[in-house]
Amino acid sequence: MKVTVVGAGAVGTTCADNIARKELCEELVIVDIKDGYAQGKALDLTQTTSLLGFDTKITGSTGDYSVTAGTDVAVITSGVPRKPGMTREELIGINAGIVKDVAEQILKYSPNAIIVVISNPMDTMTYLALKSTGLPKNKIIGMGGALDSSRFKTYLSLAMGVSQGDLQANVIGGHGDTTMIPLTRLATWQNVPVSDVLSQEELEKVAADTMVGGATLTKLLGTSAWYAPGAAGAAVVEAIIRDEKKVIPCSVYLEGEYGQSDICIGVPVVLGKNGWEKVIELDLNDEEKAKFAKSAEAVRNMNNELSL
Ligand code: LAC
Repeated sequence: MKVTVVGAGAVGTTCADNIARKELCEELVIVDIKDGYAQGKALDLTQTTSLLGFDTKITGSTGDYSVTAGTDVAVITSGVPRKPGMTREELIGINAGIVKDVAEQILKYSPNAIIVVISNPMDTMTYLALKSTGLPKNKIIGMGGALDSSRFKTYLSLAMGVSQGDLQANVIGGHGDTTMIPLTRLATWQNVPVSDVLSQEELEKVAADTMVGGATLTKLLGTSAWYAPGAAGAAVVEAIIRDEKKVIPCSVYLEGEYGQSDICIGVPVVLGKNGWEKVIELDLNDEEKAKFAKSAEAVRNMNNELSL
């Protein structure tokens, strides 16, 4: 197995670090446009090999995609991150051109690759990668829901004083501060609805904190977060490479599911060796359906900014 991570920034490198530690592939390539940067990151990570006890061969490349040939899964983290006060949507102008170019370069050398998109605005970048490459829909996956659901579990566990691992909690919709939908009604702690444990007010706070989870970190750090985004990317890669058939909310191309078509947006999907293999249709109530439709409208408006 071979994995390529494009973008040697904090998210890309953290993702690569997780992929290497989990030994998801024999070969891991990091690509960046900044001269020597990916090679530096690859060498630094390689020097953790004996300390951490993994076996993955890690190399770096400055913009030469020929070394990525034979990639099974490629992760795109390229582009600029947001600064405090910025929305993810404001990045579209710069990141669209970069993501389109990167997706094409990957497929030129690895026509069978599955692509995982992390770059923001993530749902629109996933849609762009799909439309510009013409890849089968199952091979393009935006990782936003994996990250947002993980943040949802963090805030639930803090409010409830329970283990994150005992929670089942999904965030669907767009990967945006106002478009994500933490499904508080359906979230459970070992089969117990979290709504039996937390008050409505507490649940609303958990949902609100989840929605601005990325913005909170951007404010604290002065730039976008990387540990959880990188780990979320690696979790998606792991589910694909190990053919886990795990259900993880991801941004995928819908053709009628959840009442939406011609859009990439977060829904729970089964991940396996073919990419995303099935959309899980949750039984949403009217309020949740309305939120999803509104979220899709916002994502669609953003997609309309693309020149496809
Ligand atoms: C975040 C970015 C990666 O949510 O979108 O932290």
